Amino acid sequence: ILFYFILFPQQIQLTEQKQEFNKRHTKTRRRSLSRSISQSSTESFSSAYSDSSEDESSPKDKLQKTSKGLSDFCIKNIKYASHGRREIEIAEQEMPALMVLRKRAGGEKPLAGAKVVGCTHITAQTAVLIETLCALGAQCRWAACNIFSTQNSVAAALAEAGISVFAWRGESEEDFWWCIDRCVSAQTWQPNMILDDGGDLTHWIHKKYSTMFLKIKGIVEESVTGVYRLYQLSKAGRLCVPAMNVNDSVTKQKFDNLYCCKESILDGLKRTTDVMFGGKQVVVCGYGEVGKGCCAALKALGAIVYVTEVDPICALQASMDGFRVIKLSEIVRQVDMVITCTGNKNVVVREHLDRMKNGCIICNMGHSNTEIDLAGLRAADLKWEHVRPQVDHIVWPDGKRIVLLAEGRLLNLSCSTVPSFVLSITATTQVFYYFCLLMFADEYVASLHLSTFEAHLTELTDEQAKYLGIGKHGPFKPNYYR
Ligand SMILES: NC(=O)c1ccc[n+]([C@@H]2O[C@H](COP(=O)([O-])OP(=O)(O)OC[C@H]3O[C@@H](n4cnc5c(N)ncnc54)[C@H](O)[C@@H]3O)[C@@H](O)[C@H]2O)c1
Repeated sequence: ILFYFILFPQQIQLTEQKQEFNKRHTKTRRRSLSRSISQSSTESFSSAYSDSSEDESSPKDKLQKTSKGLSDFCIKNIKYASHGRREIEIAEQEMPALMVLRKRAGGEKPLAGAKVVGCTHITAQTAVLIETLCALGAQCRWAACNIFSTQNSVAAALAEAGISVFAWRGESEEDFWWCIDRCVSAQTWQPNMILDDGGDLTHWIHKKYSTMFLKIKGIVEESVTGVYRLYQLSKAGRLCVPAMNVNDSVTKQKFDNLYCCKESILDGLKRTTDVMFGGKQVVVCGYGEVGKGCCAALKALGAIVYVTEVDPICALQASMDGFRVIKLSEIVRQVDMVITCTGNKNVVVREHLDRMKNGCIICNMGHSNTEIDLAGLRAADLKWEHVRPQVDHIVWPDGKRIVLLAEGRLLNLSCSTVPSFVLSITATTQVFYYFCLLMFADEYVASLHLSTFEAHLTELTDEQAKYLGIGKHGPFKPNYYR
């Protein structure tokens, strides 16, 4: 495994020696990393979930045991385990490739010896990922990367299955770091791999347990933000183990960002606003993968869609896909909805909102909660009314109301379900990254999902393969293909 981590080309370069890392790990850097990372502890995406009838006591105050006597976990309530198991079984049906990997491994344990400490959303879908790693021989300990997205019943099912999980829905910021710490600092167990979503776990190990990097062989990072931080660490010469960038894998970009958003944008809008889409005028800011998915879904339901873009290539794509590319300031007066998908900050600002019509809906599908300038909307002359979960009205002095969804955070994370099948593709890629990181991995992951659609691939003839200069069975695209 280490061999692959070191060899493959898309890995972020991290050849610094561990001693070098320890030497350079200055307090100043730690502080700045800590600040930027803690801002993101509630971002990233997964299916929204809410467990009802929770008791109010903190899980930290309870001593719980599984039916087999395990107590090395901290979750809301172990008695939810059987419900969580059913959730996981339903997700398994929509995550065929991971199940195929388990079967293909047979009794073999290709990940034997891997001790994975993970920090991701804890949902039925990630449970399928975690249990696949275990089925392939890895030992896992897990914490949540998001204080809101944990499915308590799923966490209970994982604990009951013998996995040490430290997470519950609605953790405080302090609980969040406590859970990560408990996950990392087991007395008789030391991780040799990290699977992170957002970079918080990696940051914590750097900050508190830097000597662990002597044993850690690599990091698999899923999110844009986490990858950005790894690049920063690498640039500063402080990244001392190989890191895998799942976010830039073809399978994540092409499927997760595009199809996941295409499938969940309408659901998020419907659940929060009951809005009808036909004939509505919508502006989508950003025509990258996420923007393309949102535009396609809205157009299919008869909405009139406008696009804003800074990049002429994406603007041209939008134009040729039939969308009018326009500046937000030119269209903002007449639209019924504004959806941000840029990964940028302050794309929608007070000035735009001042000009929107009464009842205009604004929401974000892009990065964290930075795309809509919320600070500007907290001005003294505007009133905020919390109308229902994930829906706030911002009221202007003349009575105009703008509808803000999910407090400007990712709408589909907060208010809708994310399709397991799409998550399966990224999750399978994550498992694969423990073995290798080639175009072949992406193609293999895609091929494992094709049988669901009874799709039959055409095979290249020897002559055709020779003509194209590629192998008959792939890789079909170069590593830089996106
Ligand atoms: N909601 C989800 O489920 C989900 C899923 C995947 C990714 N994301 C997030 O969505 C964001 C976008 O992801 P992507 O894959 O589409 O990225 P991308 O880079 O492909 O697309 C972003 C687009 O926004 C454009 N842009 C940047 N600033 C702009 C501005 N001020 N006005 C108009 N356009 C602007 C860029 O030119 C680019 O084309 C990222 O932050 C990513 O983390 C969300």
